[in-house]
Amino acid sequence: MSQFTGLVIGIPREIMPGERRVAVVPETVRAFAKDGARVVVQSGAGAGAYYTDDAYRQAGAEVLDDAREVFRQAGLILKVKEPKFNESLNAHEADLIRGGSVLVCFLHPANPLNHAMVRTLAERGITSFSLDSIPRISRAQHMDALTSMSTVAGYKAVISAAHNLARFVPMIPTDAGIIEPARVLVVGTGVAGLQAIATAKRLGGRVKALDIRPEANEQARSLGAVLVPFDLPQGVGAGEGGYAQRLPEEWYQRERECLAPVIAESDIVVLTALVPGERAPILVDTSMVESMKKGSVIVDISIDQGGNCEVTRPGEEYSWHDVLVIGLINIPAYLAVDSTRMFAHNLYEYMNHIVADGRIDADSQDEIIREALVTKNGSIVHKGALKAMEEACA
Ligand code: NAI
Repeated sequence: MSQFTGLVIGIPREIMPGERRVAVVPETVRAFAKDGARVVVQSGAGAGAYYTDDAYRQAGAEVLDDAREVFRQAGLILKVKEPKFNESLNAHEADLIRGGSVLVCFLHPANPLNHAMVRTLAERGITSFSLDSIPRISRAQHMDALTSMSTVAGYKAVISAAHNLARFVPMIPTDAGIIEPARVLVVGTGVAGLQAIATAKRLGGRVKALDIRPEANEQARSLGAVLVPFDLPQGVGAGEGGYAQRLPEEWYQRERECLAPVIAESDIVVLTALVPGERAPILVDTSMVESMKKGSVIVDISIDQGGNCEVTRPGEEYSWHDVLVIGLINIPAYLAVDSTRMFAHNLYEYMNHIVADGRIDADSQDEIIREALVTKNGSIVHKGALKAMEEACA
């Protein structure tokens, strides 16, 4: 028996406004089909990332016109974004997915906006897995779509900043004299921050960086960034499992004081600082923005979690005292071709991990399966979602 034998995998077109990604590429369709799955793709699902219906057909998929039919036929739905209300069908995707089937996508189950949808999934007996809850351990790296998407976000943050900056990023020798390279500051040097540093270096910027995890600072330094001095005592920034942890308020104050002079001299500030499961810390306040040179740019990609800068507005790009503040959201959709490719391959690897002999093992004690599980047997089992739901009721 092949691995995916008996599974009908459904790929609906994404309906979130501006979303251009899709959950499968022809290559992964071919791999699913080769191992026994029947793959049904909604017509036009790949259009935003330039994959045609014919390309999916040639890879072995059936293409269906109607989203309802995809949801009706499939026992396993693969998506990019969480189920949303489908205006054109006047129905919520969580109600269209067949009762008792399986859903795998970015569910963001702790987000209060998704609580009702998660409850619906549980009530309808749908087993759901959230890709954003796969533990960020080396064994799961090839399935980690969050990491892939952060790579896109870090790159795009710097490109957007450079595009909007009223000056060059590299040093340019001209007949009118030497133009100095732009000064770039990257705060938070996890996946997105490191990619931002690498991109800014490639463009020829002079890069400084700061993180609260010593390991992340070391990686930033090895990419050529100069570290901003911050005398955080050992063990305060990184906690269990090496993840960042919330700092006591006086240390945030201290950090802002260390960042202030560097921000004042920077042309580009890229903000990516995040403690898992928490609101992003405020590291740049209004007066720090106002201290920057006119024409400088801040890109705050932590905005989905509330933002690192006091004046960032989600999804907006606007000037505050002649400093452009960019609150880009859903950045991966801007690079739909590569982000789809990475997402689809991560998702395929995840399915490879959780399916055996045509069965999805939702009872496994493997943390890669257990921690991503959101609903099972009519209940919500995701710790973060349960905690957030309790808080929302309190
Ligand atoms: P990550 O968890 O790998 O990195 C966050 C880094 O921030 C960690 O290295 C952590 O140590 C550091 N950090 C935490 N508190 C800090 C502090 N006080 N000062 C300095 N550094 C601090 O996260 P990743 O994947 O790199 O994502 C970064 C941000 O980008 C997140 O907010 C994420 O949600 C966002 N993102 C946004 C996207 C969008 O479309 N807007 C797409 C992908 C990621």
